[in-house]
Amino acid sequence: MLRHADHNDVPRIQAILNKPENWDKLEAYSDEAVLAAIDGAEMTVFVWEEDQQWLGFCWLCRAACSIKIEEFGVSTPGEGVGSRFFAAVLENLDLYDEAKSVWLAVAADNKAAIRFYKRFGFVPSELREAIWKRRKGPIADALIMRR
Ligand SMILES: CC(C)(COP(=O)(O)OP(=O)(O)OC[C@H]1O[C@@H](n2cnc3c(N)ncnc32)[C@H](O)[C@@H]1OP(=O)(O)O)[C@@H](O)C(=O)NCCC(=O)NCCS
Repeated sequence: MLRHADHNDVPRIQAILNKPENWDKLEAYSDEAVLAAIDGAEMTVFVWEEDQQWLGFCWLCRAACSIKIEEFGVSTPGEGVGSRFFAAVLENLDLYDEAKSVWLAVAADNKAAIRFYKRFGFVPSELREAIWKRRKGPIADALIMRR
């Protein structure tokens, strides 16, 4: 089930953002920044639950003509959860933001995520070199992908 995040979701969102294996894939945020995203008019944070189990979050930023996927993570990667979750997110965006393009920046060495987004019709459009100072080095290139 797709739903909007509320304040109670912050610790679980932070647990995914701060998992050591995600240090080179996701950014670090204060609780206040996550709360601001949940409450902000230009941002939407979705969470995904199956059988009342909390499984992940997807944080979006809305601009006039486009939507950026700011952060996206699930608690058990590689088990199909992200595919079900992301299909529901895109369906929601197609319903409510039909005319907007969707884009994201992914670490250029995050091969699994790049494969994942390609399966959903995202296409690499630009490589921004050495702009991503990660918690766990080295500095990464960011690959921009668009749908
Ligand atoms: C990126 C992410 C959200 C994708 O979600 P996910 O749940 O791992 O995605 P899925 O499991 O649906 O798909 C991933 C792969 O697992 C495979 N898979 C799906 N169900 C599976 C299962 N039951 N058993 C084995 N493999 C499975 C898929 O076919 C897919 O294969 P691919 O690598 O060839 O594309 C998740 O991996 C994640 O949280 N990664 C860490 C954070 C991150 O990188 N976020 C993106 C930053 S922009």
